[in-house]
Amino acid sequence: MKVLVIGGGGREHALVWALSKSKLVEEIHVAPGNAGMRGVAFLHSVHSEGTEEILDLATQIDPDLIIIGPEAPLVKGAADSLRNNGFTVFGPGKTGAALEGSKAFAKQFMSRWNIPTAPFHLCTTLEEGMEALKKRHAPYVIKADGLAAGKGAFVVDNLEDAQSIISDLLVKKTLGAAGEKIIVEDYMPGLELTVLCVSDGKEYRILPPSQDHKRVYDNDKGPNTGGMGAYCPVPWAGSSLMERIEKEVISPTFEGLKKEGIPYCGVLYFGLMIDSHYKPRVVEYNVRFGDPEAQVILPVLNVDFAQLAMSASTGALSTLPPIVANGWAVDVVISSEGYPGPYKKGLPISGLHEAAALRNVLLFHSGTSLNQGGETVTNGGRVLNIVGLGLSLEDALARSYEGVKYIHFEGAHYRRDIAAKARI
Ligand code: GLY
Repeated sequence: MKVLVIGGGGREHALVWALSKSKLVEEIHVAPGNAGMRGVAFLHSVHSEGTEEILDLATQIDPDLIIIGPEAPLVKGAADSLRNNGFTVFGPGKTGAALEGSKAFAKQFMSRWNIPTAPFHLCTTLEEGMEALKKRHAPYVIKADGLAAGKGAFVVDNLEDAQSIISDLLVKKTLGAAGEKIIVEDYMPGLELTVLCVSDGKEYRILPPSQDHKRVYDNDKGPNTGGMGAYCPVPWAGSSLMERIEKEVISPTFEGLKKEGIPYCGVLYFGLMIDSHYKPRVVEYNVRFGDPEAQVILPVLNVDFAQLAMSASTGALSTLPPIVANGWAVDVVISSEGYPGPYKKGLPISGLHEAAALRNVLLFHSGTSLNQGGETVTNGGRVLNIVGLGLSLEDALARSYEGVKYIHFEGAHYRRDIAAKARI
């Protein structure tokens, strides 16, 4: 197969890596990709959100399969436009992608199908926002309706902060159209869990569970990020919890999609909160692989990823065996100083070859590029993923931190407590 991957972060590097391991894949193209993918894939400098440009590129390459990594092109309808032009695509169309593209749509969908989630108010005016706050107590949770590149969800401890966030979104329009509608919802305490499913529009397969680490500092301190590390599978998410999640959340979601006539082909990401009684509730849906969850899920899959993606894209998931984790993976993300705030770019990175040469260590690039001298330099907030693999979680964790020791660039930051909550 010839495969085209859309996107350029750590998730897409993991997708490209997984495809490169498949005997079914002969040629991999990526748009735009990043410095880490050179050598395994042909890079095309086409922006992942340019629907027309992606269609032009696909027409030129004529791939057997197109995998869309990030949410923005999916929400804009890139999968529909490619399918309408005869391409085989892994990723939902615009109607399905609204589960991530509009929090209001997702919450209303969950209400319609009795899918457990936090009680909420949908607000479009300052007055409605203030009323919704009065009905709640701290911590306050406020979410912008639309896509905001990870900057649209707020959890704050005091009322004044909550009021000013609502005013910023609805009056000052700090997030533009993405914040014209907001959700004010109850805070859900518990343990976070990510469960991804692959769907072919008729049936779905559940992938091994993983856990992300969203705050920038150890012990879940500091601002939210795109994700500072992850591990897979999750020891405390055993078969009885997974069965409950399927019965109460996953199955009603796919039933709801079918009953509403929304075709869904690709990955559906269930961001869950598990309470002290092991009741799962949905924090969010995403319509693509998680980042950094993909970096730990793809390396442990017991099935060929190209075959999985192709089966899902052609309505043939039933031909695959059940999907389970083969071993363990831990990802430690190395980020730029200052991230998720402003950070420098263009800083030379050393130790890449040494880390990549370690046994059972994979290196996935998130934000890197080549400078004019051909050196690999930083080019994003999240820069690198050091993924350790092992026959136990402890082995995988040790491999990952062993790899981290080799990587150096000015101001490099990483969390020291990845997977600390794996054993509860
Ligand atoms: N790791 C969270 C996300 O991909 O949205």
